[in-house]
Amino acid sequence: MIKDLKTVVLAAGKGTRMKSKTPKVLHEIFNKPLLARVLDAVISAGSSENIVVVGHMADVVEEYVSKNYENTPCVLQKEQLGTGHALKIASEKLKGFKGNILVVCGDTPLITPKTLMEFVKFHISNNSDITVMTAFFDNPTGYGRILRNENGDITSIVEEKDASEDIKKIKEINTGIYCINWESAGFGVDEIKNENAQKEYYLTDLIKWGVSCSKKVSPYVLKSSDEIFGINSKLHLSTATKIMQKRKLNELMEQGITIVDPDTTYISPETEIGEDTIILPNVVLEGRNIIGKDCKIGPFSHLRGNCKIEDFVKIGNFVELKNATVQSHTNICHLSYVGDSCVGQNVNIGAGTITANYDSRTKVKSKTEIKNNASIGSNTVLVAPVEIGEHALIGAGSVITKSVKENSLALTRSPQKEVQNYVK
Ligand code: UD1
Ligand code: MG
Repeated sequence: MIKDLKTVVLAAGKGTRMKSKTPKVLHEIFNKPLLARVLDAVISAGSSENIVVVGHMADVVEEYVSKNYENTPCVLQKEQLGTGHALKIASEKLKGFKGNILVVCGDTPLITPKTLMEFVKFHISNNSDITVMTAFFDNPTGYGRILRNENGDITSIVEEKDASEDIKKIKEINTGIYCINWESAGFGVDEIKNENAQKEYYLTDLIKWGVSCSKKVSPYVLKSSDEIFGINSKLHLSTATKIMQKRKLNELMEQGITIVDPDTTYISPETEIGEDTIILPNVVLEGRNIIGKDCKIGPFSHLRGNCKIEDFVKIGNFVELKNATVQSHTNICHLSYVGDSCVGQNVNIGAGTITANYDSRTKVKSKTEIKNNASIGSNTVLVAPVEIGEHALIGAGSVITKSVKENSLALTRSPQKEVQNYVK
């Protein structure tokens, strides 16, 4: 935890290029909204309170935030008059605050807690009044450019629309992330004017203000520039998903997990996997899952979240799991759906087994429990709520509607008839 750190997330902008009825910051990557990815990163970095500036479809964004985050007030920016104006609106909630304010944008989901923490620590150890995170881009088009003097000190930021041809050639850009010593420099936000090409209150003008009144203004250069990739379109959304996918798979491979085909494997950042587990092609693991060691997952398996898979488990082709615990040495190898279930150790679930967990009339979901060493025959439907006892055996093709005791055989299929010589 960094002492006295609060964050302002700018999220009032419209996001026209998303061409969507959903506000931009609520679009999802790996089942989590962009805004939530940013909030999670600042919280992990040690921010104690986060203020979200909302504007476009404010009520929808505010509802999401209040349902999912504590200690995260939203403030309304009725008209989007610029990033400087947005921070000014948030500053009403920061009167008398004496710590540091981190400013981030709600549409940069790839930013990591590690980078944010290093950035804030740099700001603090450097005794800066204002620190801005910069990056070097081969193609800086569209971004604000960082101007430095002959000593290498930052002097101002110039937006693309206000830039001369010479300034446009500068490759150091503003990432839009700042850290402000609120006591010594927060009031600078009130000094920002809208005298520019877009008639907007630019937060970037805080740099020029700081320099003009001898505040300590420092640039901090970001090394891995994909972290500040901002989302403006559906194409950007897929690009960011790819970056996040690659990041996660690389991390897992470093931890000793085998990923046979990284191009077709999608694993949410929230999933944890143990050593020596093998992930075969076309696997999708969404939401939060914990998978043990020495498991084999895939090909074509789909975990939809809240799954806990213990060691030495096999989850095979076209198997879908949701909200399920599967204990060690259990096999669910083919064509099955297991949801809202607890499956014990050393269980064998035959091909085509379905846990019927949902009553579409009452909308109630019920639990299936399968105890240790049970064996479920192929093409079984387990109509929940139902419990299968230890060592119980279910005959193939059964529809099980009542719980089965330990060591019992249960089967519901009609007896086979044979009419001899019928074909003749
Ligand atoms: C901004 C920076 C630019 C930087 C770039 C990095 C300014 C003036 N420019 O430009 O130097 O290179 O980000 O991505 O700050 N927002 C509000 N209220 C507003 C306007 C914007 O909340 O009135 C929010 C947006 O929702 C967005 C963020 O602020 O999350 C940035 O706004 P955006 O319009 O994307 O700024 P850029 O033009 O990209
Ligand atoms: Mg932008």
